[in-house]
Amino acid sequence: MDLTPKRAADSQTEMVQVVLPNDANPLGFILGGTVMHLIDIAGAIACHRHTRTLLVTAAVDDLTFLHSIKVGDLIILKAHVTCVFTTSLEVQVDVFSEETLTGRRQQTSRAFLTFVAIDQAGARVRVPPLLVETDEERRVCEEAHARRAERLRKKYEVPSTKYAE
Ligand SMILES: CC(C)(COP(=O)(O)OP(=O)(O)OC[C@H]1O[C@@H](n2cnc3c(N)ncnc32)[C@H](O)[C@@H]1OP(=O)(O)O)[C@@H](O)C(=O)NCCC(=O)NCCS
Repeated sequence: MDLTPKRAADSQTEMVQVVLPNDANPLGFILGGTVMHLIDIAGAIACHRHTRTLLVTAAVDDLTFLHSIKVGDLIILKAHVTCVFTTSLEVQVDVFSEETLTGRRQQTSRAFLTFVAIDQAGARVRVPPLLVETDEERRVCEEAHARRAERLRKKYEVPSTKYAE
């Protein structure tokens, strides 16, 4: 297991794709579920670049769609690791639309996801530390710690459901 510390820049990931009719609802806008899928993929790629391990998605924080993205536009996703815990890490994914004819860009979502690093047997494994070098990176990581505490608090609020009597 390589636990060499890495920088946030080492995980920086950008994905770009054109919105095709198959991705859209009858109004011609990309489906929210398709955006969520792309967010998960972009976040996972950034985390893989940090950990170089297998990963599972543990949590996706509240997600808001600020603007619709129409067929023919580009959807751009930018992801980077914000903070590393012990076997888990947080990634920020920013989503933008870009009109192909004008180049006009708008941010449409920001998402925070948590991934957990696992080995082939599914056991949790430690993730390499994140090099936090600037005041801005320290602020981002402090905010990530606060979000993590809130996630873990909420996790235990989910009522357990009996599926079979
Ligand atoms: C995510 C999962 C591994 C957590 O397992 P668990 O036994 O409940 O969690 P543990 O107490 O062992 O915690 C493991 C790590 O996950 C973190 N974690 C667990 N649940 C979390 C949540 N809801 N939000 C954020 N982090 C979480 C813990 O903080 C811990 O991180 P740390 O080692 O950095 O402190 C487990 O619930 C799971 O496998 N879920 C299904 C994942 C999945 O199928 N995802 C979709 C497809 S990839």
